[in-house]
Amino acid sequence: MAAPKKCVLITSKSASLHNDILGGYIDDYVGLIEKQYDILWWDDFLKNPELGLKVEGALIGPGVRQMRLPENLDKFPNLKVAANFGVGTDHVNVKLYNSRGIKISNTPNVLNNAVADHAMGLMLAAARNTVEGHKMATDPNCTKWPNDTNLGVDVSESTLGIVGMGKIGMKVAQRAKAFDMKILYHNRTKRSDEEEKSLSALFCPKLHNLLAESDFVVITCPHTPDTDGLFGDAEFDAMKKTAILVNVARGKIVNQDALVCALTSGKIYKAALDVTYPEPLPRDHKLLTLPNVIFTPHVASATLRTRLKMISCMLENITAGIAGLPLPNEVHAKE
Ligand code: DGY
Repeated sequence: MAAPKKCVLITSKSASLHNDILGGYIDDYVGLIEKQYDILWWDDFLKNPELGLKVEGALIGPGVRQMRLPENLDKFPNLKVAANFGVGTDHVNVKLYNSRGIKISNTPNVLNNAVADHAMGLMLAAARNTVEGHKMATDPNCTKWPNDTNLGVDVSESTLGIVGMGKIGMKVAQRAKAFDMKILYHNRTKRSDEEEKSLSALFCPKLHNLLAESDFVVITCPHTPDTDGLFGDAEFDAMKKTAILVNVARGKIVNQDALVCALTSGKIYKAALDVTYPEPLPRDHKLLTLPNVIFTPHVASATLRTRLKMISCMLENITAGIAGLPLPNEVHAKE
């Protein structure tokens, strides 16, 4: 007889925030999880808190704040591993989980291509006025295309500054190389000569040097205490007035007041943001009113194939954690 399935906790069925573990693809996700595990839904736990005793693994993520797991850890004495839906774990109190003997994992690598694709998409959309063009082309009152107004800017042969040359940054560089871009990067550490050569990328130890030269600046670094508010007034002052900023990392890396000022005063030309702080922005937030910003709702990794890979990766970590084995993608608490 097959051993009974172990139990994992996931977010509430009713949750529909953009970044929910189950947002959008419920059947595919649940099907994958149910092949291996019994599911305890957060809603059902709230109705029967004693069910928490069965839970050995949890799927957690940035969009599941209504699943108040950290505040309820006492109710999950058998929880061994919590797998985060995404690579960025800045929202996870790793120390707190670890202090209860619970390991944390993330989903590196599987989303690099999707996020890099999205960064290129935002860069192209901002540069070529794709959103404005769509509005014009579908405007019921439009009877004539305006002649050459609202010209775009070239992505090809421009200079790209990549802030954060980790795995996602490198994927952006690969794509930018195919656009004949000059590629600069800023990173804590210089990449090897071979990597730089293969990407045709030049290291800028000083962020401001990169900012001064770049037509496009793409943020792909993690959000850490060191990168919190990395882009403020001084950084926007250092950028070209014609520059376009793309952020596919975390909203808090950019000081949003400084960004509003930069976009309204002409310090920079445009921004294309997949991430903000908070998410979503309050509907009356100044950034939402500016004509020179385009947004996507934190969906850089959100393709069905990538999301299913992310869930598979989470399940691998949960399986290892429940078995008491080292996690393939353990995230350790920062000192
Ligand atoms: C990540 O991987 O951190 C993405 O932001 C998905 O949430």
